Amino acid sequence: MDIWNQKNLGHQWKTLALGKQQAMLSKISKFVSKKNKSKIVCLTAYSKNIVEELDKFTDLILVGDSLGSVLYNYKSTRNVTLDTMIEHSKSVRLGIKKSLMIVDMPYNTYRNKKQALRNCKKVIKETKCDGVKLEGGEKIKNIVNHLTSNKIPVMGHIGILPQLVRGKFKSKGKSEKEKKQLMKDAKTLECVGSFAIVLECIEKNLSKQITKEIQIPTIGIGSSSYCDGQILVTDDILGLTNSKIKFVKKYINLKNFIKKAAKKFRLEVLRKKYPTKKYSY
Ligand code: KIV
Repeated sequence: MDIWNQKNLGHQWKTLALGKQQAMLSKISKFVSKKNKSKIVCLTAYSKNIVEELDKFTDLILVGDSLGSVLYNYKSTRNVTLDTMIEHSKSVRLGIKKSLMIVDMPYNTYRNKKQALRNCKKVIKETKCDGVKLEGGEKIKNIVNHLTSNKIPVMGHIGILPQLVRGKFKSKGKSEKEKKQLMKDAKTLECVGSFAIVLECIEKNLSKQITKEIQIPTIGIGSSSYCDGQILVTDDILGLTNSKIKFVKKYINLKNFIKKAAKKFRLEVLRKKYPTKKYSY
């Protein structure tokens, strides 16, 4: 029995029926049991072709509502709809073989217990994902509790909450008041049955303390190496966005490769070098 089952979810998850739910439970348990054993690798994905490659190297893939700004140029993730999340998630599902697949619940889709449960069930049914992610801590404890009591695996998200931010993003956890609240948020989410928590832009010593004091994995984004795992937006690490955020590391400049390929294609078409016999019927 792993720590996640033992500590938090005995009352909820032990009652899971055999079959599909059992398989989902064991996938989540396996993920949670990585805490204190090895670092956990997570990335975002919005479509099949890219996630097929990511999946070979990740433990968790998040269909993030960051797709609102990354793909659709929305000023805020608030404009992302449930239908958009579902369509992208269906595509992502096609490319995942082994990683846990978690879908972000967009803004205003989990305002109360009833609405949250209805929408989460819809997302899980239509996308075949393994769980959902909700932004917020203590304030949404009743909603998270309702979801986990109904056997919906929930990943928490505290620190910067993009669905609530207006204007510039500022790191969290520097003042005593913020520190206390964030620790309370993390412990509350653990207590109501979340299986992991994203810590977004939380000061490093507080991230360390939270990671130490809770039994479920913390997944950092701009929250230092003390977290149990890390997540970044894939389009950022591939150099497909112009992100200047401090914690973003570009691992490749894919734009250059795309440019080269498109340029070569253009030249070959203009010079009638493509298609040759080999590419014709
Ligand atoms: O929407 C998203 O992609 C996220 C991650 C960056 C944590 O929430």
